[in-house]
Amino acid sequence: MSSFLVSGGRTLTGETVCQGSKNSSLPILAACILNEHTVTLENIPEISDVEATLRILTFLGCKIRREGARVAVDASGVTGSDIPDGLMREMRSSVIFLGALLARTGRAALSAPGGCEIGLRPIDLHLEAMEKLGASVTDAAGRIECTAPQGLRGAVIRLSFPSVGATENIMISAALAAGQTRIHNAAREPEISDLADFLNAMGARVSGAGGSTVIVDGVKKLHGAAHSVIPDRIAGATLLAAGAVTGGRVRVKKLIPAHLEPVLDILERAGCDTEIRSDSVTLSAPAALKSVKTVRTMPYPGFPTDIQPPVTAVLCRAQGASVVIETIFENRYKYVGELTRFGAKIRVDGRVAVVEGVPRLYGANVLTPDLRGGAALTLAALAAEGESRIEDVRHIDRGYESLEHTLAALSADIRRID
Ligand code: UD1
Repeated sequence: MSSFLVSGGRTLTGETVCQGSKNSSLPILAACILNEHTVTLENIPEISDVEATLRILTFLGCKIRREGARVAVDASGVTGSDIPDGLMREMRSSVIFLGALLARTGRAALSAPGGCEIGLRPIDLHLEAMEKLGASVTDAAGRIECTAPQGLRGAVIRLSFPSVGATENIMISAALAAGQTRIHNAAREPEISDLADFLNAMGARVSGAGGSTVIVDGVKKLHGAAHSVIPDRIAGATLLAAGAVTGGRVRVKKLIPAHLEPVLDILERAGCDTEIRSDSVTLSAPAALKSVKTVRTMPYPGFPTDIQPPVTAVLCRAQGASVVIETIFENRYKYVGELTRFGAKIRVDGRVAVVEGVPRLYGANVLTPDLRGGAALTLAALAAEGESRIEDVRHIDRGYESLEHTLAALSADIRRID
């Protein structure tokens, strides 16, 4: 079990390059299954969720070639349509293979992902959508099987909530369906537009992505393509938050600043100064951070739930009280108990956290509960006086490309021990 050892209290300064997006890479890699030719992807981050996705692709019969951030997927030999339990359990978002397998092979069988660290995360919207597209769905003892031996057919699907994963699964499966699919109340996250761009590069016909109605006109076959995934707005925002909490000045390059707007807005309200260029953001922290009246997580273009924990860590150092409201996941405050070990003052009542800023945080030994909660604890440790140990950082490795090296290059005193 790896841990981070952090000697806190250093001001972060310097510049860094943002990694490619985890949440774009996973559905895009799954969508490669649709194609019987080779697809080349750039800017794929070296994180364990990507490794888990590549293991599933290999298991299903794909040939993978990886050189750093470039991954070539040859899905001509896909034979399997079953994903075993063990591989499913490695990564909850493997449910994204449902639509891809169904469209390619007429069948998909996988275990229900079940609850995870941050909430129940049901997949009812995914399954209802597959039924609308003409699949038969059975769920026996947690093993879900979807079949569509005659292929899928386009449908009008109204999502009761703009689920990111469900929107992606529908787009992927509808790409090869007969006729047109319209997704109403679709998720509008930048990763949805990135997936649409990738599908279109392979010859699919997807329009409207980024808006709340996405239209997919099914095609019979796709062709080989090359695509570079977008920068990771959550990883980029985490690094800017690290600059904010340590009173530093951090420049993150290779970003799409528009994707970070709701986060930059909150950091500016906290007193940070931001300098926005076409593909970089520089954040300069004030001498003393200010509290923020309310931070409410919302679907895009609202404030992202994934950056709620790191921003809460920043607000721990602000003067005054801030209110954080988590509206997306019901169990996203697990890290708060650990954060209080640094001396943070936070009260949680259901979906609301009241953060009373404190002048100082102190080094502590804490346990990482989940990916973004782990990032929040790392930020608190950077800002704390003295030594901290962040235990079980494999959660952090799921989504951040060697976070300790990135932070050390910004003058943090952090190292990994096994
Ligand atoms: C994706 C992101 C995750 C991010 C989340 C919200 C990936 C790999 N993960 O997760 O980092 O935090 O979007 O921006 O892209 N829900 C249902 N039924 C369903 C599907 C979802 O009730 O069938 C609920 C979930 O329990 C949750 C909410 O809808 O409360 C949002 O989930 P969703 O947008 O689907 O998130 P994910 O795609 O799982």
